[in-house]
Amino acid sequence: MSDKIEKIALVSGANRGIGAAVVAGLAKAGVHVLLGARDLAAGEATAAPLRAAGGSVTAVQLDVTDPQSVAALAEKLADDYGHIDILVNNAGVGLDYVPGMSPVEKMEATLAINVVGGLRLTEAMLPLLEKSAAARIVNVSSELASFGLRHDPAWEHHDKVMPIYAASKAAVNALTVGYALALAPKGIKVNAICPGYTATAATNFMPDRTVEQAAVVILQMALLENDGPTGGFYNDQGALPW
Ligand SMILES: NC(=O)c1ccc[n+]([C@@H]2O[C@H](COP(=O)([O-])OP(=O)(O)OC[C@H]3O[C@@H](n4cnc5c(N)ncnc54)[C@H](OP(=O)(O)O)[C@@H]3O)[C@@H](O)[C@H]2O)c1
Repeated sequence: MSDKIEKIALVSGANRGIGAAVVAGLAKAGVHVLLGARDLAAGEATAAPLRAAGGSVTAVQLDVTDPQSVAALAEKLADDYGHIDILVNNAGVGLDYVPGMSPVEKMEATLAINVVGGLRLTEAMLPLLEKSAAARIVNVSSELASFGLRHDPAWEHHDKVMPIYAASKAAVNALTVGYALALAPKGIKVNAICPGYTATAATNFMPDRTVEQAAVVILQMALLENDGPTGGFYNDQGALPW
């Protein structure tokens, strides 16, 4: 564990699953991590053991669908730190298989969290990221959004049909490309990643891929050096087709 905090990161949806593993990994790398959680008590329960293990982790209340929650957090971080260096847009849902909702309701709810929520958080944090010497934004996407892979009959997930989730993550990918271009003059790198099909509550804890394995590519993109890529889509094996 590093003694010297050199960077500050905010991770959304970090009280459990892949987000919690990203927080642990960033803390281990010596980053001060703001652990975003809709339920602050749940966030604190995840943060406490990480702090006990020597990590510099602070739980913060964050619901990406709630403009007041996002604005209040931006104000708090401006007061407490004046800047942040890393934003991981990890909060996300897949509602395709949820019973009792129409496809339109599923789409509206999914877009509100995965797309509008991530955009809201990015926009609120941009003034703080612009004050960093080398800011990084990592958008947690999914291979299910890859048109290139979707059209490959040999692709291992060819049978997974989740059009609503996939459409939301395709929008995340489009935002990634656009923001990467717009923010390049400011030295802010923006990349989309797929963590891989991982055992979390979102997948009913299938298959056996761990959240630590899923976090690897997120950590890589969060801690990119200045000569690293921007505007790309990656998993832990390398670049993914759009
Ligand atoms: N697991 C996979 O196989 C897989 C594959 C590809 C991509 N992903 C992506 O990876 C990311 C993390 O997923 P996961 O598998 O770790 O799922 P998870 O265990 O269900 O965690 C999702 C997290 O998002 C939070 N969240 C939900 N709605 C939110 C909102 N409105 N505001 C803020 N946070 C909110 C949840 O908070 P609560 O605890 O309060 O609900 C939770 O912390 C998602 O973007 C997902 O799409 C996952």
